[in-house]
Amino acid sequence: KLTPVIMAGGSGTRLWPLSRSLFPKQFLALASNVSMLQQTVQRTAGLPSDDSILLCNDDHRFLVAEQLRALNYKGARIMLEPAGRNTAPAIALAAFDIVATKQDSLMMVMAADHVIDNQKAFEQSVINAIELAIQDKLVTFGIVPNAPETGYGYIKRGHELQNTAFDVNAFVEKPDLETAQAYIDSGEYYWNSGMFMFKASVYLASLKEFSPAIYAACEQAYNEKTEDLDFIRAGKEAFLNSPDDSIDYAIMERTTDAVVVPMDAGWSDLGSWSALWEIDKKDDNQNAVNGDVVLHNTSGSLVHATNRLVTTVGLDDVIIVETKDAVLVAAKDQVQDVKEIVNKLKAEG
Ligand code: GDD
Ligand code: MG
Repeated sequence: KLTPVIMAGGSGTRLWPLSRSLFPKQFLALASNVSMLQQTVQRTAGLPSDDSILLCNDDHRFLVAEQLRALNYKGARIMLEPAGRNTAPAIALAAFDIVATKQDSLMMVMAADHVIDNQKAFEQSVINAIELAIQDKLVTFGIVPNAPETGYGYIKRGHELQNTAFDVNAFVEKPDLETAQAYIDSGEYYWNSGMFMFKASVYLASLKEFSPAIYAACEQAYNEKTEDLDFIRAGKEAFLNSPDDSIDYAIMERTTDAVVVPMDAGWSDLGSWSALWEIDKKDDNQNAVNGDVVLHNTSGSLVHATNRLVTTVGLDDVIIVETKDAVLVAAKDQVQDVKEIVNKLKAEG
């Protein structure tokens, strides 16, 4: 049986100003009537799985607990990180927990910021991955790319292993635009979906090899955990000592044991405003609007109003997001850089 491991500790800065540090995007209902976290939890229902582990920031524990309660979902162990150290340490905490509580298990690592339209196709890819993960492989799920997105990891397909999987010849996290374009043109690359499957023991062995400092810090943080009825808290001091790194950079770029299972399940990462525009319903001029909005001579744009009337005249391919205390106006092809605004605001305190 699998243990779903749901990562819900990101800050979602590219969806600022709707996504805020106290309310990051995985807790927002952007493309549905439930949040992306809730959709992720619902997605596990069709898997051959045990109880799940949900990892998030201590600050968001009540938000998470409340969203699970709304689904009447009681099958999650909620593990809290005292501060974000990215996904490699978070997954390590879950892996240590699995090894401690059930000796070992396959982990189905899922991001809480994805939309997946075709549940059946998703489940089939997961089933296909099990066979490889039990042979000690680190399984990635590959999405056929349709644009040179620089916000994703790229997986170079190698030898065919079975109809449903390939060796990974190379894994490149967030290449620059030129490189991404070359990958797309070659036809040999998938996008990394950001979901993974492996044995907890295999993840820990890889982490120990490639990032011993994260391994050691997380082992200690796990051993120093405190537990109450609702939450498991990683040991603060030890966890804060962990280097900050993602599984993609820390492990996937370095390992030779990765394989890729293609997934054709209507996947999208709602990582940026342009991604949201892609999946939104659009009018005849390719505008996605939300809230109190009036447009004239405007096309290819996303306009989101929460508090006030927003109007535009003569604009193409822009993103406008109005909230009570902040407004974003951006070129649609540069929205990956919205996180730079957030960094600037942070720097200015
Ligand atoms: N618990 C926890 N703690 N979760 C975290 C943390 C953390 O410190 N940091 C990020 N997460 C969660 C996010 O909430 C999200 O659900 C998931 O982990 C992935 O993090 P992102 O920050 O959204 O990563 P990304 O989108 O830049 O890149 C990843 O996903 C892409 C596809 O969506 C990579 O895996 C890429 O290779 C991949 O293409
Ligand atoms: Mg993401």
